Amino acid sequence: MTFRRSVLSRRGFMALGGATAALGAIPGLAQAAGPSLAALAKAKGLRFGSAVSAGPPGSNTGTLDDPGYSRVLVDECGVLVPENELKWYVLRPDAKTFAFERADRIAAFAKAHDMALRGHTLLWHHPKWFPAWLQHYDFGKGPAAAKTAEGLLVDHIAKVVAHYPQIDSWDVVNETIDPKDGSIRHTVFSDAMGQEHTLDTAFHAARAAAPKARLVYNDYMGWEAGNEAHRAGVLKLLEGFRKRGTPVDALGVQSHLGTEDPAAPGSLGKPQEKAWRAFIDEATGMGYDLLLTEFDVNDRDMPADVAARDAAGAALAKAYLDLMLDYRQTKEVLAWGMVDKYSWLQGFTPRKDGLPKRATLYDDAYKPTPLREAVAAAFQAAPARA
Ligand code: G3I
Repeated sequence: MTFRRSVLSRRGFMALGGATAALGAIPGLAQAAGPSLAALAKAKGLRFGSAVSAGPPGSNTGTLDDPGYSRVLVDECGVLVPENELKWYVLRPDAKTFAFERADRIAAFAKAHDMALRGHTLLWHHPKWFPAWLQHYDFGKGPAAAKTAEGLLVDHIAKVVAHYPQIDSWDVVNETIDPKDGSIRHTVFSDAMGQEHTLDTAFHAARAAAPKARLVYNDYMGWEAGNEAHRAGVLKLLEGFRKRGTPVDALGVQSHLGTEDPAAPGSLGKPQEKAWRAFIDEATGMGYDLLLTEFDVNDRDMPADVAARDAAGAALAKAYLDLMLDYRQTKEVLAWGMVDKYSWLQGFTPRKDGLPKRATLYDDAYKPTPLREAVAAAFQAAPARA
């Protein structure tokens, strides 16, 4: 077993005491041999990290509260992203309150371990993910309504961004394209302000609050068949941003592999490599950088046998990452969680045989899986970028 002392000392492991010393004492955790994923990524000009969650104040229900999980994060990650804690439905219990406590815990952990922090998300522009009080908020009518809506949105973004000046990469708008037909979703904001103006306002507010941060449009259009309308809608959106001079720096490609939208017409789930390259070429051709923001593998349709399943998941991931990392515009890779038992995929489209999924880079005993090695190999094979 190789302990990555260089990574740990870079983070001031010994100097931190308290929580960090406790992490160092966890027995029985297997560590991956060789350099950390953060170090492998960094050697190629990339950044690697993961989503992590924090429970409500006073609870210990977040993944951050599991010492085994925290140890994996410290060992492997250069950046953390709050999985849910910056979403309106967590941050904004009402129109006046900002409940930063949960995200603050993650920010403190990242700081203590010398990891960067990225932000997800300032506007998940989908009514389902608005807090109940906002879903039917009455902004009134006409120009006054537009002004009130704009005031609420800009105030939210200005305050959240100012609270985390260390965040240098923001998912400003998340998932506003309807995968069924590629249209922009309607919300109370867009009803009051107009769809494009709502999205543009969010990016302008983020730019004003964080002039140097990378501003990202994030969505889950994938390379599988069934995503054609979704991809086309995202490209149209990106073109519109460029035409209107909206400050968007990058496309966040979520990269939930194998998780095509089951509701999409003609969904087959098979990768369409040629069409996918054309999509990525168009986005990069417009000058957008790329981030793989929520990487994991939905093994729903893979064999039950663990070795065969792991091999299939790792092969799929390696092929995908090789393709994506070949684009020098790809700057960051974020895993959407690092330990299988906590993955959101356990509850999403369960396997027919009822077996737990092996969707992330570490199994339930905190041991690295072949998927972790596929990511490491892809980083090693990737061309360097600035
Ligand atoms: O914390 C409560 C718990 O107190 C309660 O008992 C329980 C009952 O449902 O819910 C818990 O909250 C859940 C939360 O995750 C924390 O686990 C919510 O119901 C559940 O809806 C929420 O799901 C999150 C989902 O986004 C919706 O916000 C997933 O964790 C998170 O992984 C997922 O992440 C999204 C990205 O933000 C955007 N892209 C897709 C990705 C996967 O769906």
